[in-house]
Amino acid sequence: MCGIVGYVGHSDGRVNAGHNALDVVLEGLRRLEYRGYDSAGIAVVADGTISSRKKSGKLSNLITELDTRPLPESLTGIGHTRWATHGGPTDQNAHPHLSDGGKLALIHNGIIENFAELKLELQGKGVTFESETDTEVAAALLGDIYRNQLGGDVTNGGLTRAMQLACQRLEGAFTLLAVHADQPDVVVAARRNSPLVVGLGDGENFLGSDVSGFIDYTRRAVELGQDQIVTITADSVEITDFYGAPAEGKEYKVDWDPASAEKGGFPSFMEKEIHDQPDAVRQTLLGRSDIHGKLTLDELRVDPELLKHVNKIIVLACGTSAYAGQVAKYAIEHWCRIPTEVELSHEFRYRDPIVDENTLIVSISQSGETMDTLMAVRYAKEQGAKTVSICNTNGSTIPRESDAVLYTHAGPEIAVASTKAFLAQITAAYLLGLYLAQLRGNKFQGEIKDILADLGKIPAKVQHILDNEAQIKELGRSMADAKSVLFLGRHVGFPVAMEGALKLKELAYIHAEGFAAGELKHGPIALIEEGQPVFVVVPSPRGRDSLHAKVVSNIQEVRARGARTIVIAEEGDEAVKAYAEHVFYIPETPTLLAPLLATVPLQIFALALASAKGYDVDQPRNLAKSVTVE
Ligand code: AGP
Repeated sequence: MCGIVGYVGHSDGRVNAGHNALDVVLEGLRRLEYRGYDSAGIAVVADGTISSRKKSGKLSNLITELDTRPLPESLTGIGHTRWATHGGPTDQNAHPHLSDGGKLALIHNGIIENFAELKLELQGKGVTFESETDTEVAAALLGDIYRNQLGGDVTNGGLTRAMQLACQRLEGAFTLLAVHADQPDVVVAARRNSPLVVGLGDGENFLGSDVSGFIDYTRRAVELGQDQIVTITADSVEITDFYGAPAEGKEYKVDWDPASAEKGGFPSFMEKEIHDQPDAVRQTLLGRSDIHGKLTLDELRVDPELLKHVNKIIVLACGTSAYAGQVAKYAIEHWCRIPTEVELSHEFRYRDPIVDENTLIVSISQSGETMDTLMAVRYAKEQGAKTVSICNTNGSTIPRESDAVLYTHAGPEIAVASTKAFLAQITAAYLLGLYLAQLRGNKFQGEIKDILADLGKIPAKVQHILDNEAQIKELGRSMADAKSVLFLGRHVGFPVAMEGALKLKELAYIHAEGFAAGELKHGPIALIEEGQPVFVVVPSPRGRDSLHAKVVSNIQEVRARGARTIVIAEEGDEAVKAYAEHVFYIPETPTLLAPLLATVPLQIFALALASAKGYDVDQPRNLAKSVTVE
């Protein structure tokens, strides 16, 4: 989830032509900064050389750097704001990365899955590396091909041909932009499983990770397809596949205003991020298992021998992240047979917990700065526990103070109420659970491969729910006057019910409460009166049907007392229809993975209801994105 911009213009006096590349690229990066703000960098081609500047931190740090060390005027440039995946947010790891003796600059969004083997191959040729990134490896590969395979001869297809040959070697997800000093009026780009659009100008052309990268200059855009290379000059846009065969892009007119362009055309970051969820799960899974289904969590630097002797897991988190931990508890205990407790961080250290060197602490935090969780992790470390952080913000405090980190790759979550981070946290926690099961031999490799295959189907299933969101959105709008909504769930559906209630509280400021469905008859059922809206998250009838039957009887209990029952159930589950005023179906999936789907209608419902009330869904009252006080 990085921000990427490319530009080529020329100054023959035509209208709109000949902007200074630096201005265009910086404007684009400013609009794209929400996509990533760990570092920023820019490279321009001028006077037969590549000049570049890059700084960790926000774009403002780069601008300060440029004020003190300005770049030359240029008509060709590329720029990047980083959301770190490989390597921390440092100056060295910032993009662009240079190669071919500083004559080639490359920026990248995504994950190169085979960067380690490519790095060894290049080191064998004497290439040295300064950063920890996969991007620098891609830059070195491109430079090596350009110089040694094509002889650095632009008549041999030049940078375009080099990019085609390089992309044939790369695995994973990537958007790449490159410039070379030998071709001062060209930017070459490539994309696979990562966004890239072309902006068509008059005497100038643009590239962006989305249209907000160039919307201030043109609204004519060309969407690129999978595995395509595009070469732009001031007057031309040429598209091929990775093997040089000509390809077509689809031109369209951008009708978003600049502000909504930063939200991908959605009215709010909240809605954009709900729709980012297929990619958040996909990116979190990417590069963490091999083709045999073996988990390769190479960033999880904890001694495997130690992990084999862990006899208790304590999950530390707050709010939505704690609900992600509660979902994960069911899976980790089922797969690994390790007792797993989920503790609210702010309660943990005051209850004199039992923690020792065989306890594994797993903190879950989107921001990595939640003070309650940070203090709890510090306390656990003092007691001798090993600590793993599941975090969405590279280089933040909690992962830095943990023994190991498993980053979620949901991209920046701007809306205060968490959505895509929640699904990514569950995904990462599942990967950790499967890794422990693999290490300790609780699961055969084939079983783990099957579960990973089921996880790999989740993004498409989430997309299916999003494509059919109209009905649940309409229900949310129709219930704008609701004063109270209850949410019921059992097993992994229980934390989903809690998260659904929290979303509604946060966004619509109305009373909402989640219950374990079995707990209702022990008191809360007194709340049920005529017309009381009750959501019920129903488990798959294909699983242990005792669970399904019990939840159906819970629906009957509340229905009999006048409740307005709204049911989330698996496609094909006819049994719930008789007792539900509304049924929203989600695709079939194994019980333990169902929270990744069942949560989505509840998010959409809360967003629609709050929007109907005219509330600011991105920055709800009284809340902060990261609670950095205890
Ligand atoms: C989520 O919708 C809330 N904004 C809040 O509960 C949040 O999950 C909690 O504060 C923990 O934040 P963290 O994940 O950044 O640690």
